[in-house]
Amino acid sequence: MPVTVSDEQLQSQFTYIDAIASMNGGKKLRAYTHTFGCQQNEADTERIRGMLREMGYEMTDDVNNADFILFNTCAVREHAEDRAFGNIGSLSHLKKRRPEVVIALCGCMAQQEKNVEKIKKSYPQVSLLFGTHALWRFPSLLYRVLTGEKRVFDIGGEDDIAEGLPVLRAQGPKAWLSIMYGCNNFCTYCIVPYVRGRERSRRPEEIEKELRELVAAGYKEITLLGQNVNSYGKDLGLDIDFADLLQRLNAVPGDFWLRFMTSHPKDASPRLFDAMAECDKVAKQLHLPFQSGSDEILRRMNRRYTAAEYRALIADARVKMPDITLSSDIIVGFPGETEQDFEQTLQLVEDIQFDLLFTFLYSPRTGTPAASYEDNATPQEKQNRFERLLKVQDDIVAKRQAAYQGKTLRLLVDGTAKGPDYPYTARTEGNLLVCVRGEGIEIGSFIEATIEKTSLRCLFAQKR
Ligand code: SAH
Ligand code: SF4
Ligand code: F3S
Repeated sequence: MPVTVSDEQLQSQFTYIDAIASMNGGKKLRAYTHTFGCQQNEADTERIRGMLREMGYEMTDDVNNADFILFNTCAVREHAEDRAFGNIGSLSHLKKRRPEVVIALCGCMAQQEKNVEKIKKSYPQVSLLFGTHALWRFPSLLYRVLTGEKRVFDIGGEDDIAEGLPVLRAQGPKAWLSIMYGCNNFCTYCIVPYVRGRERSRRPEEIEKELRELVAAGYKEITLLGQNVNSYGKDLGLDIDFADLLQRLNAVPGDFWLRFMTSHPKDASPRLFDAMAECDKVAKQLHLPFQSGSDEILRRMNRRYTAAEYRALIADARVKMPDITLSSDIIVGFPGETEQDFEQTLQLVEDIQFDLLFTFLYSPRTGTPAASYEDNATPQEKQNRFERLLKVQDDIVAKRQAAYQGKTLRLLVDGTAKGPDYPYTARTEGNLLVCVRGEGIEIGSFIEATIEKTSLRCLFAQKR
């Protein structure tokens, strides 16, 4: 069973929240947050914003006006780290001008010793740093800074679960719902297991309770989050797996879509696809990263499936859900990737015809096994492969998008669009982006709309 943070421990954090709120008293203090990385990080930021709100902070989008500034960081690729350092670096003037401003850094980068050393040495403007495991202790850490401690660093903590933290969600009809934390897979390129700890699942009744609250609050699209949702429940000892959880959540009354991410092909199963097909609220959409089409590369990535097994999974999903929308992640230029390996990736992309692909150039991560693998391809070769892949995928997407012309679909309106002709944005059940026009459109409602034209990134529709 995963360890849950005890009530007393949490209660003490609420004491610090109250203490900060009374310190802040009548003052109008503003907090600015910026999130890098994945949905898990976004969900974490929403908890921190929830705590900040209880402390009396108002949220602001203007970093120059903020009294508290937080960067929730990502370590998955070098680019994400560089951007975070760049952002913090650019705040040194602000800190000189207004020394009372508190600049904080948390998340996956903050969980790594090498980054902590760098911040300690070269970024004196950061006065609070805490890792992913210390998130629930944020109120006590901030209290220490506000009561005079010069710099507070906390990257300790267990692989535990904190229930009942306040949350301030982003506006709109969509909500994240974490069902588990951490990852046990240790893909050889990936830093996530090192910065997020081992897999631990929330108890099903806690998840169901949160879902019911979300539905009652009017959320229409709820995405279940975990690095590998298909291994949900393995640590609970309760005889429940992810397919069971889907069935249980599907039974919650209300009109909403359930999505989930991310799935790992080694744990995705025909049983999961049966459950998806049976559950009317589970959107017929699957994000199933395959990373490479070469068995040799997959083996060295420690992915524990073959390209043939991946193809079989997709075939099964399509038999059970003929209209399913498919997306995937691919890494180009993994150490030792040959032209032949890469062609197998291209072939898989052409054969499967994904609706959406997230393609990444391999980025070595210190501390992961692949960082010391021999790498022969030049940056130019890798870039070249990357562009070839994008071209192949763009042609596929153009064809798939065009096939929606004239279809009438159920959409969830989720925001406003930039252009004047189609003033609202919406999503299909398959999570495709649609710009819509028509009378009486309301954000947060389901509508029926007919696709009038299509482009590579967007469908354009008229409300019926
Ligand atoms: N847990 C999820 C994804 C987590 S990271 C899963 O297993 O699918 C999201 C994506 O980032 C990964 O799917 C992978 O394609 C990419 N990624 C991870 N580490 C990377 C690295 N070192 N270089 C480039 N891309 C990477
Ligand atoms: Fe990283 Fe692999 Fe875990 Fe995904 S499954 S988070 S890619 S180690
Ligand atoms: Fe990045 Fe951490 Fe997510 S490394 S991708 S923010 S789990």
